[in-house]
Amino acid sequence: MAKLYVNPNVKTGKINAEIYGHFSEHLGRCIYEGLYVGEDSPIPNTNGMRNDVVAALKEMKIPVLRWPGGCFADEYHWEDGIGPKENRKKMINTHWGGVVEDNSFGTHEFMELARQLGCKVYINGNLGSGTVREMSEWVEYMTFQGISPMADLRAKNGHPDPWKVDYFGIGNENWGCGGNMTPEFYANEYRRYQTYVRNYVKINKDDDEETVRKKKIFKIACGPNVDDYKWTDGVMKVAGKYMDGLSLHYYVHPLGWEEKGSATEFDEDEYYLTMYKTVFMDELIRNHGAIMDRYDRKKKVAMIVDEWGSWYTVEPGTEEGFLYQQNTMRDALIAGITLNIFNKHCDRVKMANIAQLVNVLQAVILTEGAKMILTPTYHIFRMYKDHQEAQLVQSSIESEQLPVNRELLLETTREWHREGRPAKKYSVDALSESASVSADGTLTVTLTNLSLDTAYPIDAVIADTKIQSVDAEILTNEVHAHNTFEDPETVVPAPFTDFAVTDQGISFQIPPCSILKFTIHSK
Ligand code: AHR
Repeated sequence: MAKLYVNPNVKTGKINAEIYGHFSEHLGRCIYEGLYVGEDSPIPNTNGMRNDVVAALKEMKIPVLRWPGGCFADEYHWEDGIGPKENRKKMINTHWGGVVEDNSFGTHEFMELARQLGCKVYINGNLGSGTVREMSEWVEYMTFQGISPMADLRAKNGHPDPWKVDYFGIGNENWGCGGNMTPEFYANEYRRYQTYVRNYVKINKDDDEETVRKKKIFKIACGPNVDDYKWTDGVMKVAGKYMDGLSLHYYVHPLGWEEKGSATEFDEDEYYLTMYKTVFMDELIRNHGAIMDRYDRKKKVAMIVDEWGSWYTVEPGTEEGFLYQQNTMRDALIAGITLNIFNKHCDRVKMANIAQLVNVLQAVILTEGAKMILTPTYHIFRMYKDHQEAQLVQSSIESEQLPVNRELLLETTREWHREGRPAKKYSVDALSESASVSADGTLTVTLTNLSLDTAYPIDAVIADTKIQSVDAEILTNEVHAHNTFEDPETVVPAPFTDFAVTDQGISFQIPPCSILKFTIHSK
């Protein structure tokens, strides 16, 4: 019998809602078709945004959305995407399929989408191929209230009031698609560009620290790829004082960057390897966090995991540059485990944005013309939503270690071993958990069991708690199971009733390949 311990009285930090954030790039069918169909589309829409998709995302409680990229961000010139649509410049989306980008979705459209979703906005600026002036004017265009060239232009384009920009990224992957820079070069560029990302909002003398923080634009510097610790060190050393957040990008490629692997066809070895690579996120956060601590002992600089998730070989017959992939129970486990990891690191991880929202990589929604389906990953985000803004509480679980294929692991993680560091172990924990208490005292516990064949009996001890009622929900199925346009409800959550309330907490058995959520009310 495995033990789960939860102590709702030991609160260890706030889980920012933004940890449950998302990312939408001008890539494949994410923006066009997935989110935006235009006002004249036969697909039901409000000001061009798909009604079905917006409703599903609101139900999932999307807290923040990053836009316009990704690699696209460092080639995007915001002025091409404002004003009358017929006059907007057309460009080639060189990164993603070489298709024509007509700029019909620009700043006004993105802000309208965020308004409909009721979410915060995270804009990613262009440092790689844009000028300081261009970035500065974009911020002025979006946020300045009063008389100024950019505020006047915004008003002329139909939006006299400024918008709130919550987060602003200064470049993306500048070690790669964003300009192939060295950490030192980027850090100096970052210092220069961020100087002109002005805060135009009025700060009152009696505003407390929290209010000031919320009013100001939260500036995010480009962080490392996977385990590039030299990047973190170099950027923190030179520019740590000038940033609010540093990003981290980490994708799970089951068979490595070159081969990747299929989204729906994989054997057990490949599956356990995928899970091993999923929990690697924990090591990355710890290691990059330790470097950040050297320059920022008070943890003022947040870690922003603004790209994460599975990245497979594209679905057969689809455009390679569109990154369209299916989403199975394996992806639900990737999401469930990773979100548990983020919750537990909420002292440092303040935002995370799974890639990407619709029709790209580990999407929560897939569309085909007017049809829409919710993926297993969607259901996890919806099940976990009660963790948003709740207090993380102390918890731990005893877990069996499940072996991974050592040769396959070494073969497919070559890109992690730039510095010649071998893997530390060749197994993965079967179980993961996290627990939080929301403002009204509700305790939410989320658990994952990645074993493909073993159900684990669990005796949960919930300290100093007189349980009044328990509700539980489970997402479980055969690991390859997924939703299709013909059969959209193969993988859906179900109520879970097979538990008993004990003197100390709850006892139950977690089925293999499952994600389980308990909602516990106490007396
Ligand atoms: O999410 C797809 C791409 O992955 C993004 O554009 C880029 O930032 C990353 O390499």
